[in-house]
Amino acid sequence: MFYINILLQLLFPAAVASWSVSYNPGSMCALERASVDFSCMFDCPDSHRLKTTYWFKPEAHQKQDGSQVGISVYNSEPAKIHQLYKNRTTYANRDKNCSLQLHNVSKSDTGMYFFRFETYSSRGKYTGWGGIKLTVAVLPFRVTVKTKKVNEHIQEGDPVALTCSTENCILTQEPFAWFKNQRLIPEAIGSVLQITSVSSDDFGYYSCGLKNTRSASADEVLLDVRYSPKNVKISVLPSGKIQEGNSLTLICESNANPAVTNYSWFMIKEAYVSYIGSDREFSIKSASQKDDGQYFCTAKNDMGSQNSTVTALKVEVASNRNFFLTAAAVFLFLMAVLLLVMFGRLIIRRRKQFTSKKQPTEQTPAVTVTEEIYENLRKSPESEDNLTTNVLYVDLRLASSTSDRPPCRNQENDTVIYSLLSYKH
Ligand SMILES: *[C@@H]1O[C@H](CO)[C@@H](O)[C@H](O)[C@H]1NC(C)=O
Ligand SMILES: *[C@@H]1O[C@H](CO)[C@@H](O)[C@H](O)[C@H]1NC(C)=O
Ligand SMILES: *[C@@H]1O[C@H](CO)[C@@H](O)[C@H](O)[C@H]1NC(C)=O
Ligand SMILES: *[C@@H]1O[C@H](CO)[C@@H](O)[C@H](O)[C@H]1NC(C)=O
Ligand SMILES: *[C@@H]1O[C@H](CO)[C@@H](O)[C@H](O)[C@H]1NC(C)=O
Repeated sequence: MFYINILLQLLFPAAVASWSVSYNPGSMCALERASVDFSCMFDCPDSHRLKTTYWFKPEAHQKQDGSQVGISVYNSEPAKIHQLYKNRTTYANRDKNCSLQLHNVSKSDTGMYFFRFETYSSRGKYTGWGGIKLTVAVLPFRVTVKTKKVNEHIQEGDPVALTCSTENCILTQEPFAWFKNQRLIPEAIGSVLQITSVSSDDFGYYSCGLKNTRSASADEVLLDVRYSPKNVKISVLPSGKIQEGNSLTLICESNANPAVTNYSWFMIKEAYVSYIGSDREFSIKSASQKDDGQYFCTAKNDMGSQNSTVTALKVEVASNRNFFLTAAAVFLFLMAVLLLVMFGRLIIRRRKQFTSKKQPTEQTPAVTVTEEIYENLRKSPESEDNLTTNVLYVDLRLASSTSDRPPCRNQENDTVIYSLLSYKH
């Protein structure tokens, strides 16, 4: 407004010059020991000559609207400056520029500040209404989250404003530092962190403070962006090739807020989709080729659901085990063949032995021995007298090799055999 006034004044000085004071901004928040800039421009008709210019602060018991002049913060007559503000101000003191710097602010500086100028004309006295309200911040900082929604969760796409403020005011003239999950967000330097459309990536814990003054940092505040499951994918444990007979677990992984409440597992086999499970994990105790197929899971929360990408499972017939089994089978077969061959040969040999043994015994059967015995039997003449004894001593003598029969192999047979024979009349 006042810029327009200045502009108009430059173009038509006499025509538009009027009585005015404008402040910018209307209220300020400052840290203790900081300096504040009260930006100010004033105007009055050129016909009036300035007598005094000053900034005043109504005292606590006075009206705070500027109608009662309080203590002088600055005065073009230095003697009138209040003790509390001596050497603490810098006045612009340039044509129509009434800006004031106040240094080393303390809590007692809290209050209203007004600019007033007086001319030599008795009616030419003017106070800029409205004034500037100075508040001295009470630390620590705190983060407040503002959305258009009331009592509703923040969803993706919502506009959100995070404000770094103190208990009593928002600092605007200081450079800020913002942190997300304790990491500095370099591009955020104002007291307000504006997000025009939040995404799941913005979910996190936020804190703020003044640049280079970590000690004044605020506690962390959660930006609880709600979103349906994202990045739903299957991970297979253990990883690598799936051997037949091994156990494996499929895990349905996702990123969701709030946490996923329902999982569903599906298997696609020969174009048929079948529902196979409802837990986060789907376990196969002993993998076999019937588990071959394509799998996907669905993760669902209050915000919605998403299907995972399809994961194909291929159960491999354990080639190592198979090799050993084959080797073992071949070995056993060979052993069996070997045994058969050996057994066969044994039987053949036995048969041959049997037949070659049998033939000679048939030629000289054991009976012939008895024949020999009877042949050699001779009645002793003495025994004829004494027949009562009934005992007969017989001298058995086996035939010697003189006979045409083949000799008996057993040499023992050559010895004398005694036998008790009963003699009957
Ligand atoms: C203000 O500063 C001047 C010189 O810089 C010094 O002589 C004077 O004592 C100071 N006054 C106060 C009240 O600090
Ligand atoms: C008024 O003076 C202050 C301090 O010298 C300066 O920073 C500001 O830019 C001036 N304003 C205008 C509009 O010239
Ligand atoms: C700032 O003001 C305080 C009292 O409010 C005083 O103790 C301190 O010395 C001042 N600092 C400077 C640099 O003038
Ligand atoms: C999700 O799971 C809960 C129990 O955990 C069940 O009551 C509800 O019906 C399920 N919702 C869907 C859509 O499957
Ligand atoms: C997810 O899978 C289910 C079951 O096959 C199907 O009904 C649904 O349409 C799928 N959703 C998407 C987004 O593809």
